[in-house]
Amino acid sequence: MNYRLAFLGFGNVGRALAELLLAKRDELKSIHDITFTVTGIATARHGQAVDASGIDLPLALELGRNGRPLNALSAGPVPDNFLEFIRCSGADLLFENTPVNYETGQPAVDHLRTALELGMHAVTANKGAVVHAYHELSELARVMGRHFFFESTVMDGAPIFSLFRSALPVVRCKSFEGVLNSTTNLILTRMETGESFEDAIAYARQTGFAETDPAGDIDGHDAAIKVAALMTVLMNTPTKPGEVAYSGIRDISMEMVADAKANGERYKLICSAEFDGQKIRGRVAPRRVSSASRFYGIEGTSSMIHFETDVLGEFSLVENDPGPQTTAYGLLADFINAVRN
Ligand SMILES: NC(=O)c1ccc[n+]([C@@H]2O[C@H](COP(=O)([O-])OP(=O)(O)OC[C@H]3O[C@@H](n4cnc5c(N)ncnc54)[C@H](OP(=O)(O)O)[C@@H]3O)[C@@H](O)[C@H]2O)c1
Repeated sequence: MNYRLAFLGFGNVGRALAELLLAKRDELKSIHDITFTVTGIATARHGQAVDASGIDLPLALELGRNGRPLNALSAGPVPDNFLEFIRCSGADLLFENTPVNYETGQPAVDHLRTALELGMHAVTANKGAVVHAYHELSELARVMGRHFFFESTVMDGAPIFSLFRSALPVVRCKSFEGVLNSTTNLILTRMETGESFEDAIAYARQTGFAETDPAGDIDGHDAAIKVAALMTVLMNTPTKPGEVAYSGIRDISMEMVADAKANGERYKLICSAEFDGQKIRGRVAPRRVSSASRFYGIEGTSSMIHFETDVLGEFSLVENDPGPQTTAYGLLADFINAVRN
């Protein structure tokens, strides 16, 4: 079966997804009988393209990589706002990959709601939409007979949400603990080699792991929103990032890292949620861990999550050296899971 796809956001993640779709085109067809036509691509400052007969995806990638506008690929005039773009794309599934808004989740929430109201599946890597509208969008998807999936929002393509949703029916997540922010883990790992905090940030920026303004990672906002997303979805505890007690790594000095290293220990930014006897509480805080800790060996941009469950005991997922291609995989898996269900 052929599916019409729309991309809202064609940055690092959107383009990596386009590349992966092209690379996996034959397997999608031969294993899952899935073919696709991209009918819309929209960006904030690099134009849009809408074409019901199919946009030339390799050409769109070339334009996107070179920062050139996409409008030349459009079959006609482009819509003047993103909600109209979603409607005009006539897609069966929207990939929403615009930047995260920690405070409100917008405009991603409106984009995803519009797609679902129009009868599209809605797939995103945007954490904001999950913490601010998970229940609303999931219920809307159910009513419309469609899916709202967001595997890539935590630990990129590692299967967390689909694991609990599909492979582990009725398993209850009682608590979790993890290293979930790649940028801070990379900075702490580099500081162990004697690099300063500032130089480690510069390296993280240079290699594309940190934003131009890396405060969201360094001060723990990104980790807190991931904790909130996991609590909301896996522990049935709707949580906003501000309800997670969080601190970042700004106060971890080179001396502290060196002292830990001299004692066979390391600093890690640990994300967790557990029941404290009264309620489930989320927390993000740096912790000095010994070599006996499961988190000690998680270096660089790698991440890990450890779950405690009611019937399956404890288990962990580890992701080594993720990048936009692993985030793209989570989106591709969501696409396949959405349409084959
Ligand atoms: N990068 C990762 O490895 C990673 C991992 C997990 C999750 N995510 C999430 O994935 C999403 C996309 O990340 P990214 O790295 O691809 O970001 P990015 O490179 O900055 O790309 C964002 C895209 O969205 C467009 N855009 C910006 N504001 C918009 C708006 N208000 N409405 C519509 N489109 C808008 C941008 O247009 P222009 O091109 O014109 O600027 C660009 O095409 C984010 O929510 C991020 O948190 C990223």
